[in-house]
Amino acid sequence: MRVGDYLVVSEPQRSLVLQVYDERYLDVEGIEEEIAREEVLSASAPGVTSDPTELTTISTLIRDMRILLCKARGTISDGRLTPRANWMPSRTSSAVKRLMIEDLAGAVAPLGVRDIRLGTVDGESAFAIPAEALDGRITVITGRKESGKSHLAKILLRGLMANEAYSVIFDLNDEYGTVGMREDGSDAGDGRKVKVLRPGRELKFSLASVGLRPITSLLSHSLEMPGTSLREFVKIWEQLDNRDELSLASLESAIQQWRCNEFVRDALFARYNTIASCGLFTDSPHQQFDLQDFFSLNRSGGALVVSLSGVSPLNRKMVVELILSKLVELLERRKIPPVFLFAEEAHLYLRDTYWEDLITRMRHFGVFTVFVTNQPDAIDQKIYRQVDNIFLYNFSSDSDLNLVAQASMADSDTVRAIVRTLPPRMCLLLGYAVRNLPVVVGVDPIDAPASGLTRRFFREPLARAAAEPASQTYGS
Ligand SMILES: Nc1ncnc2c1ncn2[C@@H]1O[C@H](COP(=O)(O)OP(=O)(O)OP(=O)(O)O)[C@@H](O)[C@H]1O
Ligand SMILES: [Mg+2]
Repeated sequence: MRVGDYLVVSEPQRSLVLQVYDERYLDVEGIEEEIAREEVLSASAPGVTSDPTELTTISTLIRDMRILLCKARGTISDGRLTPRANWMPSRTSSAVKRLMIEDLAGAVAPLGVRDIRLGTVDGESAFAIPAEALDGRITVITGRKESGKSHLAKILLRGLMANEAYSVIFDLNDEYGTVGMREDGSDAGDGRKVKVLRPGRELKFSLASVGLRPITSLLSHSLEMPGTSLREFVKIWEQLDNRDELSLASLESAIQQWRCNEFVRDALFARYNTIASCGLFTDSPHQQFDLQDFFSLNRSGGALVVSLSGVSPLNRKMVVELILSKLVELLERRKIPPVFLFAEEAHLYLRDTYWEDLITRMRHFGVFTVFVTNQPDAIDQKIYRQVDNIFLYNFSSDSDLNLVAQASMADSDTVRAIVRTLPPRMCLLLGYAVRNLPVVVGVDPIDAPASGLTRRFFREPLARAAAEPASQTYGS
Protein backbone atom coordinates (compact mmCIF):
# COMPACT_ATOMS: atom_id res chain seq x y z
CA MET A 1 0.00 0.00 0.00
CA ARG A 2 1.11 3.51 -0.70
CA VAL A 3 -0.22 6.83 0.43
CA GLY A 4 -3.14 7.69 -1.84
CA ASP A 5 -4.28 4.09 -2.34
CA TYR A 6 -7.77 2.96 -1.49
CA LEU A 7 -9.04 0.28 0.88
CA VAL A 8 -12.47 -1.18 1.26
CA VAL A 9 -13.85 -2.47 4.55
CA SER A 10 -16.64 -4.89 3.72
CA GLU A 11 -19.62 -5.98 5.69
CA PRO A 12 -22.34 -8.18 4.21
CA GLN A 13 -24.67 -5.30 3.31
CA ARG A 14 -22.33 -2.44 2.58
CA SER A 15 -18.71 -1.47 2.53
CA LEU A 16 -16.79 1.61 3.57
CA VAL A 17 -14.29 3.12 1.15
CA LEU A 18 -11.13 4.46 2.78
CA GLN A 19 -8.17 6.31 1.37
CA VAL A 20 -4.73 6.02 2.93
CA TYR A 21 -3.32 9.46 3.61
CA ASP A 22 -0.45 8.64 5.89
CA GLU A 23 1.63 5.73 7.06
CA ARG A 24 3.61 5.31 10.28
CA TYR A 25 5.03 2.61 12.54
CA LEU A 26 2.70 1.06 15.04
CA ASP A 27 3.57 2.46 18.42
CA VAL A 28 2.69 -0.02 21.13
CA GLU A 29 3.42 0.53 24.75
CA GLY A 30 7.06 -0.19 25.59
CA ILE A 31 8.25 -0.74 22.01
CA GLU A 32 11.13 1.69 22.33
CA GLU A 33 12.33 0.00 25.47
CA GLU A 34 12.14 -3.33 23.69
CA ILE A 35 14.15 -2.05 20.73
CA ALA A 36 16.76 -0.56 23.03
CA ARG A 37 17.03 -3.77 25.03
CA GLU A 38 17.54 -5.85 21.92
CA GLU A 39 20.17 -3.52 20.55
CA VAL A 40 22.08 -3.65 23.81
CA LEU A 41 21.77 -7.43 24.00
CA SER A 42 22.96 -8.04 20.46
CA ALA A 43 25.86 -5.66 20.93
CA SER A 44 27.01 -7.03 24.27
CA ALA A 45 26.40 -10.75 23.66
CA PRO A 46 26.97 -11.32 19.92
CA GLY A 47 27.27 -15.11 20.29
CA VAL A 48 23.80 -15.73 21.74
CA THR A 49 21.65 -16.96 18.90
CA SER A 50 19.54 -19.65 20.46
CA ASP A 51 15.90 -18.59 20.47
CA PRO A 52 13.85 -21.78 20.78
CA THR A 53 10.47 -20.04 21.03
CA GLU A 54 11.27 -17.63 18.15
CA LEU A 55 10.53 -14.61 20.25
CA THR A 56 12.68 -12.31 18.14
CA THR A 57 10.66 -13.09 15.02
CA ILE A 58 7.49 -11.96 16.69
CA SER A 59 9.19 -8.97 18.14
CA THR A 60 10.60 -8.08 14.69
CA LEU A 61 7.17 -8.44 13.18
CA ILE A 62 5.66 -6.14 15.76
CA ARG A 63 8.47 -3.66 15.34
CA ASP A 64 7.86 -3.60 11.62
CA MET A 65 4.11 -3.22 11.81
CA ARG A 66 2.71 -0.16 10.16
CA ILE A 67 -0.46 1.68 10.75
CA LEU A 68 -2.27 3.23 7.83
CA LEU A 69 -4.14 6.44 8.56
CA CYS A 70 -7.20 6.71 6.37
CA LYS A 71 -10.06 9.00 5.50
CA ALA A 72 -13.48 7.62 4.79
CA ARG A 73 -14.57 8.55 1.27
CA GLY A 74 -17.96 6.92 0.95
CA THR A 75 -20.09 3.84 1.12
CA ILE A 76 -20.61 1.21 -1.53
CA SER A 77 -23.92 -0.55 -1.36
CA ASP A 78 -25.49 -2.51 -4.23
CA GLY A 79 -22.38 -1.77 -6.27
CA ARG A 80 -22.94 2.02 -6.13
CA LEU A 81 -20.81 4.53 -4.32
CA THR A 82 -22.39 7.32 -2.30
CA PRO A 83 -20.41 9.96 -0.46
CA ARG A 84 -22.05 8.99 2.86
CA ALA A 85 -19.40 7.96 5.41
CA ASN A 86 -21.17 8.35 8.72
CA TRP A 87 -20.89 4.79 10.00
CA MET A 88 -18.18 2.55 11.36
CA PRO A 89 -17.69 -1.02 10.26
CA SER A 90 -17.22 -3.79 12.77
CA ARG A 91 -13.64 -4.27 13.89
CA THR A 92 -14.02 -8.00 14.23
CA SER A 93 -16.32 -9.22 11.52
CA SER A 94 -15.51 -6.95 8.59
CA ALA A 95 -12.86 -7.72 5.96
CA VAL A 96 -10.32 -5.16 4.79
CA LYS A 97 -8.81 -5.32 1.35
CA ARG A 98 -7.22 -3.14 -1.26
CA LEU A 99 -9.61 -1.35 -3.63
CA MET A 100 -8.21 -0.73 -7.07
CA ILE A 101 -9.02 2.59 -8.74
CA GLU A 102 -10.53 0.66 -11.63
CA ASP A 103 -13.04 -0.98 -9.28
CA LEU A 104 -13.69 2.28 -7.53
CA ALA A 105 -14.43 3.93 -10.88
CA GLY A 106 -16.79 1.06 -11.64
CA ALA A 107 -18.88 2.05 -8.63
CA VAL A 108 -19.63 5.57 -9.92
CA ALA A 109 -21.51 6.59 -13.06
CA PRO A 110 -19.10 7.72 -15.79
CA LEU A 111 -18.90 11.44 -16.55
CA GLY A 112 -18.40 10.98 -20.24
CA VAL A 113 -17.19 8.80 -23.05
CA ARG A 114 -14.33 10.77 -24.62
CA ASP A 115 -11.41 9.47 -22.64
CA ILE A 116 -8.13 11.32 -22.38
CA ARG A 117 -5.48 8.93 -21.14
CA LEU A 118 -3.26 10.55 -18.54
CA GLY A 119 -1.17 7.69 -17.25
CA THR A 120 -1.33 4.85 -14.81
CA VAL A 121 -2.75 4.22 -11.36
CA ASP A 122 -2.09 1.43 -8.85
CA GLY A 123 1.21 0.72 -10.53
CA GLU A 124 0.06 -0.57 -13.87
CA SER A 125 -3.58 0.01 -14.80
CA ALA A 126 -4.37 2.71 -17.32
CA PHE A 127 -6.04 5.87 -16.12
CA ALA A 128 -8.03 8.35 -18.16
CA ILE A 129 -10.32 11.24 -17.46
CA PRO A 130 -13.23 12.02 -19.75
CA ALA A 131 -12.81 15.16 -21.86
CA GLU A 132 -16.28 16.05 -20.60
CA ALA A 133 -14.74 16.59 -17.16
CA LEU A 134 -12.99 19.70 -18.53
CA ASP A 135 -16.01 20.89 -20.48
CA GLY A 136 -17.66 23.88 -18.84
CA ARG A 137 -15.15 23.64 -15.99
CA ILE A 138 -12.21 25.50 -14.51
CA THR A 139 -9.01 23.52 -14.00
CA VAL A 140 -5.75 24.31 -12.22
CA ILE A 141 -2.44 22.52 -12.75
CA THR A 142 0.13 23.46 -10.16
CA GLY A 143 3.33 22.16 -8.64
CA ARG A 144 6.90 23.21 -8.22
CA LYS A 145 9.23 24.15 -11.06
CA GLU A 146 9.90 21.48 -13.67
CA SER A 147 7.52 19.03 -12.06
CA GLY A 148 5.72 18.29 -15.33
CA LYS A 149 2.84 20.79 -15.42
CA SER A 150 3.25 21.86 -19.03
CA HIS A 151 3.73 18.23 -19.93
CA LEU A 152 0.35 17.38 -18.45
CA ALA A 153 -1.23 20.41 -20.09
CA LYS A 154 0.02 19.10 -23.43
CA ILE A 155 -1.52 15.69 -22.77
CA LEU A 156 -4.86 17.38 -22.05
CA LEU A 157 -4.50 19.56 -25.12
CA ARG A 158 -3.78 16.59 -27.36
CA GLY A 159 -6.76 14.78 -25.87
CA LEU A 160 -9.00 17.75 -26.56
CA MET A 161 -7.75 18.03 -30.13
CA ALA A 162 -8.32 14.32 -30.68
CA ASN A 163 -11.91 14.93 -29.63
CA GLU A 164 -12.27 17.81 -32.09
CA ALA A 165 -12.36 20.54 -29.47
CA TYR A 166 -10.92 24.03 -29.90
CA SER A 167 -8.26 25.44 -27.61
CA VAL A 168 -6.45 28.73 -27.27
CA ILE A 169 -3.09 28.65 -25.51
CA PHE A 170 -1.24 31.61 -24.00
CA ASP A 171 2.25 30.25 -24.40
CA LEU A 172 4.99 32.05 -22.48
CA ASN A 173 7.90 29.71 -23.22
CA ASP A 174 7.33 28.73 -26.84
CA GLU A 175 6.57 25.16 -25.91
CA TYR A 176 3.12 24.44 -27.29
CA GLY A 177 3.79 25.07 -30.97
CA THR A 178 5.13 21.54 -31.35
CA VAL A 179 2.32 19.85 -29.44
CA GLY A 180 1.04 18.19 -32.60
CA MET A 181 4.43 16.69 -33.45
CA ARG A 182 6.33 13.57 -32.51
CA GLU A 183 9.83 13.72 -31.12
CA ASP A 184 11.34 13.18 -34.59
CA GLY A 185 9.36 16.12 -35.97
CA SER A 186 6.72 14.11 -37.84
CA ASP A 187 3.00 14.73 -37.44
CA ALA A 188 1.57 13.03 -34.34
CA GLY A 189 -1.93 13.00 -35.83
CA ASP A 190 -3.33 16.44 -35.23
CA GLY A 191 -0.31 18.52 -36.21
CA ARG A 192 -2.17 20.37 -38.92
CA LYS A 193 -4.69 21.60 -36.37
CA VAL A 194 -2.08 23.58 -34.46
CA LYS A 195 -1.55 27.18 -35.46
CA VAL A 196 1.13 29.34 -33.86
CA LEU A 197 0.49 33.06 -33.75
CA ARG A 198 3.26 35.49 -32.94
CA PRO A 199 1.92 38.93 -32.03
CA GLY A 200 3.04 41.51 -34.54
CA ARG A 201 3.74 38.82 -37.17
CA GLU A 202 0.94 36.33 -37.84
CA LEU A 203 -1.16 38.02 -35.23
CA LYS A 204 -2.20 41.50 -36.29
CA PHE A 205 -5.58 43.03 -35.90
CA SER A 206 -7.46 45.62 -37.89
CA LEU A 207 -9.43 48.18 -35.93
CA ALA A 208 -12.64 47.21 -37.71
CA SER A 209 -12.28 43.51 -37.00
CA VAL A 210 -11.52 44.09 -33.32
CA GLY A 211 -14.56 46.28 -32.78
CA LEU A 212 -15.35 49.07 -30.39
CA ARG A 213 -15.92 47.13 -27.18
CA PRO A 214 -12.59 45.30 -27.10
CA ILE A 215 -10.77 48.50 -28.04
CA THR A 216 -12.39 50.51 -25.27
CA SER A 217 -11.68 47.78 -22.76
CA LEU A 218 -8.06 47.76 -23.91
CA LEU A 219 -7.85 51.53 -23.66
CA SER A 220 -9.33 51.71 -20.22
CA HIS A 221 -7.70 48.64 -18.68
CA SER A 222 -4.33 48.12 -20.34
CA LEU A 223 -3.65 51.73 -21.31
CA GLU A 224 -5.44 53.37 -18.39
CA MET A 225 -7.30 55.95 -20.40
CA PRO A 226 -9.43 58.31 -18.29
CA GLY A 227 -13.21 58.30 -18.67
CA THR A 228 -13.61 61.69 -20.37
CA SER A 229 -11.09 60.90 -23.08
CA LEU A 230 -12.65 57.50 -23.53
CA ARG A 231 -16.04 59.09 -24.23
CA GLU A 232 -14.50 61.31 -26.88
CA PHE A 233 -12.75 58.31 -28.34
CA VAL A 234 -16.03 56.43 -28.61
CA LYS A 235 -17.59 59.39 -30.45
CA ILE A 236 -14.68 59.55 -32.91
CA TRP A 237 -14.84 55.80 -33.42
CA GLU A 238 -18.58 55.85 -34.07
CA GLN A 239 -18.26 58.65 -36.55
CA LEU A 240 -15.55 56.80 -38.48
CA ASP A 241 -17.48 53.56 -38.25
CA ASN A 242 -20.62 55.16 -39.68
CA ARG A 243 -18.60 56.38 -42.61
CA ASP A 244 -16.97 52.96 -42.92
CA GLU A 245 -13.58 54.56 -42.59
CA LEU A 246 -12.08 52.78 -39.63
CA SER A 247 -8.32 52.61 -39.95
CA LEU A 248 -5.23 53.73 -38.09
CA ALA A 249 -4.65 56.51 -40.60
CA SER A 250 -8.17 57.89 -40.42
CA LEU A 251 -8.17 57.61 -36.64
CA GLU A 252 -5.06 59.74 -36.44
CA SER A 253 -6.44 62.50 -38.62
CA ALA A 254 -9.82 62.39 -36.87
CA ILE A 255 -8.13 62.90 -33.48
CA GLN A 256 -6.21 65.81 -34.95
CA GLN A 257 -9.36 67.49 -36.24
CA TRP A 258 -11.62 66.60 -33.36
CA ARG A 259 -12.97 69.57 -31.42
CA CYS A 260 -12.08 68.94 -27.82
CA ASN A 261 -10.05 70.08 -24.87
CA GLU A 262 -6.25 69.93 -25.39
CA PHE A 263 -5.75 67.57 -22.44
CA VAL A 264 -8.22 65.19 -23.93
CA ARG A 265 -6.53 65.40 -27.31
CA ASP A 266 -3.17 64.66 -25.68
CA ALA A 267 -4.63 61.68 -23.90
CA LEU A 268 -6.14 60.46 -27.16
CA PHE A 269 -2.90 60.91 -29.03
CA ALA A 270 -0.82 59.20 -26.39
CA ARG A 271 -3.01 56.08 -26.61
CA TYR A 272 -3.22 56.29 -30.36
CA ASN A 273 0.58 56.32 -30.58
CA THR A 274 0.85 53.27 -28.36
CA ILE A 275 -1.67 51.42 -30.46
CA ALA A 276 -0.11 52.48 -33.74
CA SER A 277 3.46 51.65 -32.70
CA CYS A 278 2.91 48.37 -30.83
CA GLY A 279 2.81 46.41 -34.08
CA LEU A 280 -0.41 44.65 -33.21
CA PHE A 281 -2.62 46.64 -35.56
CA THR A 282 -2.59 46.99 -39.28
CA ASP A 283 -4.69 48.63 -41.97
CA SER A 284 -3.73 46.10 -44.57
CA PRO A 285 -6.54 43.55 -45.05
CA HIS A 286 -4.33 40.59 -45.98
CA GLN A 287 -2.08 41.00 -42.92
CA GLN A 288 -4.77 40.76 -40.33
CA PHE A 289 -5.75 37.67 -38.46
CA ASP A 290 -9.38 36.69 -38.29
CA LEU A 291 -10.21 34.59 -35.25
CA GLN A 292 -13.50 33.43 -36.67
CA ASP A 293 -11.76 32.13 -39.80
CA PHE A 294 -9.64 29.83 -37.68
CA PHE A 295 -12.78 28.14 -36.46
CA SER A 296 -14.45 27.93 -39.85
CA LEU A 297 -11.29 26.63 -41.56
CA ASN A 298 -10.63 23.93 -38.95
CA ARG A 299 -13.88 22.05 -38.83
CA SER A 300 -12.52 19.23 -36.68
CA GLY A 301 -11.12 21.33 -33.85
CA GLY A 302 -7.73 22.90 -33.36
CA ALA A 303 -5.27 24.67 -31.13
CA LEU A 304 -4.38 28.30 -31.47
CA VAL A 305 -1.04 28.90 -29.80
CA VAL A 306 -0.50 32.56 -28.97
CA SER A 307 3.22 32.86 -28.49
CA LEU A 308 3.89 35.45 -25.79
CA SER A 309 7.61 34.89 -25.42
CA GLY A 310 9.65 37.85 -26.54
CA VAL A 311 6.62 40.10 -26.34
CA SER A 312 6.76 43.14 -24.05
CA PRO A 313 4.60 42.99 -20.93
CA LEU A 314 2.30 45.74 -22.20
CA ASN A 315 1.85 44.06 -25.58
CA ARG A 316 1.22 40.77 -23.82
CA LYS A 317 -1.59 42.34 -21.86
CA MET A 318 -3.03 43.93 -24.96
CA VAL A 319 -2.89 40.72 -27.00
CA VAL A 320 -4.52 38.71 -24.23
CA GLU A 321 -7.17 41.37 -23.73
CA LEU A 322 -7.94 41.55 -27.43
CA ILE A 323 -8.12 37.79 -27.90
CA LEU A 324 -10.28 37.25 -24.85
CA SER A 325 -12.73 40.00 -25.67
CA LYS A 326 -12.93 38.84 -29.28
CA LEU A 327 -13.57 35.31 -28.11
CA VAL A 328 -16.34 36.40 -25.80
CA GLU A 329 -17.89 38.55 -28.48
CA LEU A 330 -17.91 35.68 -31.00
CA LEU A 331 -19.25 33.30 -28.38
CA GLU A 332 -21.98 35.72 -27.38
CA ARG A 333 -23.08 35.99 -30.98
CA ARG A 334 -22.84 32.19 -31.25
CA LYS A 335 -20.41 32.44 -34.14
CA ILE A 336 -17.98 29.93 -32.64
CA PRO A 337 -18.27 26.87 -30.39
CA PRO A 338 -16.98 26.93 -26.79
CA VAL A 339 -13.21 27.09 -26.34
CA PHE A 340 -10.71 25.66 -23.88
CA LEU A 341 -8.19 28.22 -22.75
CA PHE A 342 -4.74 27.18 -21.49
CA ALA A 343 -3.14 29.99 -19.53
CA GLU A 344 0.42 29.48 -18.26
CA GLU A 345 1.47 31.81 -15.46
CA ALA A 346 -1.57 33.93 -16.12
CA HIS A 347 -0.66 36.49 -13.45
CA LEU A 348 1.99 37.78 -15.84
CA TYR A 349 -0.51 39.05 -18.39
CA LEU A 350 -3.99 38.84 -16.98
CA ARG A 351 -5.13 41.97 -15.24
CA ASP A 352 -6.67 41.48 -11.85
CA THR A 353 -10.27 42.05 -12.81
CA TYR A 354 -10.07 39.50 -15.58
CA TRP A 355 -9.58 36.55 -13.25
CA GLU A 356 -13.06 36.64 -11.89
CA ASP A 357 -14.42 37.43 -15.29
CA LEU A 358 -12.78 34.31 -16.68
CA ILE A 359 -14.25 32.03 -14.10
CA THR A 360 -17.71 33.54 -14.01
CA ARG A 361 -18.92 35.47 -17.04
CA MET A 362 -16.57 33.99 -19.60
CA ARG A 363 -17.18 30.47 -18.41
CA HIS A 364 -20.89 30.94 -18.99
CA PHE A 365 -20.24 32.09 -22.52
CA GLY A 366 -17.99 29.12 -23.18
CA VAL A 367 -14.36 29.85 -22.26
CA PHE A 368 -13.16 27.02 -20.07
CA THR A 369 -9.82 27.82 -18.53
CA VAL A 370 -6.94 25.58 -17.51
CA PHE A 371 -4.58 27.65 -15.33
CA VAL A 372 -1.01 26.34 -15.20
CA THR A 373 1.30 27.83 -12.59
CA ASN A 374 4.22 27.08 -10.32
CA GLN A 375 3.13 29.87 -8.00
CA PRO A 376 -0.09 28.72 -6.40
CA ASP A 377 -0.28 31.98 -4.45
CA ALA A 378 -0.63 33.88 -7.71
CA ILE A 379 -4.15 32.50 -7.90
CA ASP A 380 -6.55 34.09 -5.50
CA GLN A 381 -8.37 32.01 -2.88
CA LYS A 382 -11.64 33.23 -4.40
CA ILE A 383 -10.66 31.59 -7.67
CA TYR A 384 -9.73 28.31 -6.02
CA ARG A 385 -13.19 28.09 -4.57
CA GLN A 386 -14.61 28.09 -8.09
CA VAL A 387 -12.15 25.60 -9.49
CA ASP A 388 -13.55 22.24 -10.50
CA ASN A 389 -10.41 20.20 -11.12
CA ILE A 390 -6.97 20.49 -9.54
CA PHE A 391 -3.88 18.60 -10.67
CA LEU A 392 -1.25 18.83 -7.97
CA TYR A 393 2.39 18.00 -8.37
CA ASN A 394 4.94 18.01 -5.62
CA PHE A 395 5.78 21.21 -3.76
CA SER A 396 9.05 21.87 -2.08
CA SER A 397 7.91 24.83 -0.04
CA ASP A 398 5.66 24.31 2.94
CA SER A 399 3.87 27.61 2.48
CA ASP A 400 2.84 26.70 -1.08
CA LEU A 401 1.78 23.31 0.15
CA ASN A 402 -0.34 24.77 2.93
CA LEU A 403 -1.96 27.22 0.60
CA VAL A 404 -2.88 24.56 -1.91
CA ALA A 405 -4.03 22.18 0.80
CA GLN A 406 -6.39 24.81 2.14
CA ALA A 407 -7.62 25.86 -1.23
CA SER A 408 -8.30 22.46 -2.70
CA MET A 409 -11.60 20.75 -2.37
CA ALA A 410 -10.34 17.65 -0.56
CA ASP A 411 -9.53 17.75 3.13
CA SER A 412 -6.25 19.44 3.77
CA ASP A 413 -4.73 16.50 5.72
CA THR A 414 -4.97 14.29 2.69
CA VAL A 415 -3.62 16.86 0.30
CA ARG A 416 -0.73 17.82 2.53
CA ALA A 417 0.31 14.24 3.30
CA ILE A 418 -0.05 12.95 -0.25
CA VAL A 419 1.49 15.88 -2.07
CA ARG A 420 4.49 15.97 0.22
CA THR A 421 5.39 12.40 -0.70
CA LEU A 422 4.63 12.60 -4.41
CA PRO A 423 7.55 11.40 -6.52
CA PRO A 424 8.38 13.21 -9.79
CA ARG A 425 6.01 12.66 -12.72
CA MET A 426 3.16 11.78 -10.38
CA CYS A 427 0.30 14.05 -9.59
CA LEU A 428 -2.68 14.10 -7.32
CA LEU A 429 -5.92 14.70 -9.12
CA LEU A 430 -8.73 16.30 -7.15
CA GLY A 431 -12.25 17.41 -7.88
CA TYR A 432 -14.92 16.88 -10.44
CA ALA A 433 -12.97 14.76 -12.94
CA VAL A 434 -12.47 12.09 -10.28
CA ARG A 435 -15.81 12.64 -8.54
CA ASN A 436 -14.07 14.06 -5.47
CA LEU A 437 -12.18 10.83 -4.89
CA PRO A 438 -8.55 11.99 -4.93
CA VAL A 439 -6.39 9.83 -7.20
CA VAL A 440 -2.61 9.66 -7.53
CA VAL A 441 -1.68 9.29 -11.19
CA GLY A 442 1.68 8.39 -12.69
CA VAL A 443 1.67 10.62 -15.76
CA ASP A 444 2.63 9.06 -19.11
CA PRO A 445 5.55 10.31 -21.15
CA ILE A 446 4.57 11.91 -24.46
CA ASP A 447 6.12 11.60 -27.84
CA ALA A 448 6.75 15.26 -28.56
CA PRO A 449 9.85 17.34 -29.21
CA ALA A 450 11.49 18.50 -25.98
CA SER A 451 10.68 22.14 -25.61
CA GLY A 452 10.15 24.69 -22.93
CA LEU A 453 13.40 23.53 -21.39
CA THR A 454 15.30 26.18 -19.57
CA ARG A 455 18.21 27.37 -21.67
CA ARG A 456 21.52 26.40 -20.12
CA PHE A 457 25.01 27.80 -20.26
CA PHE A 458 26.82 24.50 -19.75
CA ARG A 459 25.74 22.25 -22.57
CA GLU A 460 28.73 20.12 -23.42
CA PRO A 461 29.97 17.18 -21.32
CA LEU A 462 32.95 18.15 -19.19
CA ALA A 463 35.63 16.32 -21.23
CA ARG A 464 34.77 18.16 -24.43
CA ALA A 465 34.17 21.45 -22.74
CA ALA A 466 37.67 21.24 -21.30
CA ALA A 467 39.15 20.65 -24.76
CA GLU A 468 37.33 23.60 -26.29
CA PRO A 469 37.00 26.87 -24.39
CA ALA A 470 33.40 27.81 -23.60
CA SER A 471 33.54 30.98 -25.69
CA GLN A 472 34.17 28.97 -28.85
CA THR A 473 31.61 26.25 -28.24
CA TYR A 474 28.94 28.79 -27.36
CA GLY A 475 28.34 30.17 -30.81
CA SER A 476 28.64 26.85 -32.61
N1 LIG B 1 5.25 12.18 -17.08
C1 LIG B 1 6.40 12.50 -17.68
N2 LIG B 1 7.09 11.59 -18.36
C2 LIG B 1 8.26 11.90 -18.96
N3 LIG B 1 8.80 13.11 -18.95
C3 LIG B 1 8.18 14.08 -18.28
C4 LIG B 1 6.93 13.82 -17.61
N4 LIG B 1 6.54 14.97 -17.03
C5 LIG B 1 7.47 15.87 -17.32
N5 LIG B 1 8.45 15.36 -18.06
C6 LIG B 1 9.65 16.06 -18.53
O1 LIG B 1 10.17 16.81 -17.46
C7 LIG B 1 10.60 18.09 -17.90
C8 LIG B 1 9.89 19.19 -17.14
O2 LIG B 1 8.50 19.12 -17.43
P1 LIG B 1 7.63 20.41 -17.72
O3 LIG B 1 8.31 21.34 -18.65
O4 LIG B 1 6.28 19.93 -18.10
O5 LIG B 1 7.63 21.02 -16.26
P2 LIG B 1 6.90 22.32 -15.73
O6 LIG B 1 6.30 21.94 -14.43
O7 LIG B 1 5.99 22.86 -16.77
O8 LIG B 1 8.13 23.26 -15.50
P3 LIG B 1 8.17 24.87 -15.41
O9 LIG B 1 7.72 25.20 -14.01
O10 LIG B 1 9.60 25.18 -15.65
O11 LIG B 1 7.23 25.39 -16.44
C9 LIG B 1 10.31 18.15 -19.39
O12 LIG B 1 11.49 17.85 -20.09
C10 LIG B 1 9.29 17.06 -19.61
O13 LIG B 1 9.39 16.50 -20.89
MG1 LIG C 1 6.01 24.68 -17.78
